[in-house]
Amino acid sequence: MSTNTVDKDRKVTTMRLIEMKRRGEKIAMLTAYDYSMAKLIDEAGMDVILVGDSASNVMAGNTTTLPMTLDQMIYHAKSVVKGTQRALVVCDMPFGTYQGNPIEALTSAVRIMKESHAEAVKMEGGAEIRESIERILSAGIPVMGHLGLTPQSINKFGTYAVRAKEDEEAEKLIADAKMLEEIGCFALVLEKIPAALAKRVSEAISIPTIGIGAGNGTDGQVLVMHDMLGINKGFSPKFLRRYADLSTVINSAVSHYIDDVKTGDFPNPSESY
Ligand code: KIV
Repeated sequence: MSTNTVDKDRKVTTMRLIEMKRRGEKIAMLTAYDYSMAKLIDEAGMDVILVGDSASNVMAGNTTTLPMTLDQMIYHAKSVVKGTQRALVVCDMPFGTYQGNPIEALTSAVRIMKESHAEAVKMEGGAEIRESIERILSAGIPVMGHLGLTPQSINKFGTYAVRAKEDEEAEKLIADAKMLEEIGCFALVLEKIPAALAKRVSEAISIPTIGIGAGNGTDGQVLVMHDMLGINKGFSPKFLRRYADLSTVINSAVSHYIDDVKTGDFPNPSESY
């Protein structure tokens, strides 16, 4: 049983996350992609559920997040929203739906909001996508930024290694974070950057930072659900803490079922009509 002390009933909003930062209350965020898992995660007291484009990896079996389409993200987000009552639901904007053109970015974000009923969108990048973010914000759609390792740019980086270890990239990241705060983003994901840099960014801006592989100095943490539940055992970066070993649990349950079917033990008379 969880020992967390969250207010289990009060709906989480973007404003509430900013209040939480002011009070020094940490923010818990986890990904989900379907109704049933979203319901379990929401009932446990999660603050934010991210419908991540990591669905491309953990749901669709792709090696990158790039193939994800807007229709697929909307399908996942719609299912998550149906299972969620309290948490704020944020949906990733997929690769290719916002980078090139602010009007197209707005059209994509409006589709996500109208069709899935998610409450905010997340977008990867800083100065390069400023106009697209501003256009979306101008329509009253809350935007969560995402800096550091931005997986949609994997073909540019060529590696999933830690970002912003050098001064030049770190200074650009700090400038981008301040810019995202200034134009009106409500929060910011910091992925795979040195802990000291993430702490510095978190202290320099008033909107909450949510870290993944960014140390303990951020205002909250996010993990990919399949990784932290041990469903996806092939992925073991240093930053990942596993809270369950569901692949072993599932394998054992499924093997047991197979044995019972093969031996004729299932179904027994009490399981029959
Ligand atoms: O897509 C995703 O799951 C994400 C998190 C890793 C932050 O963007």
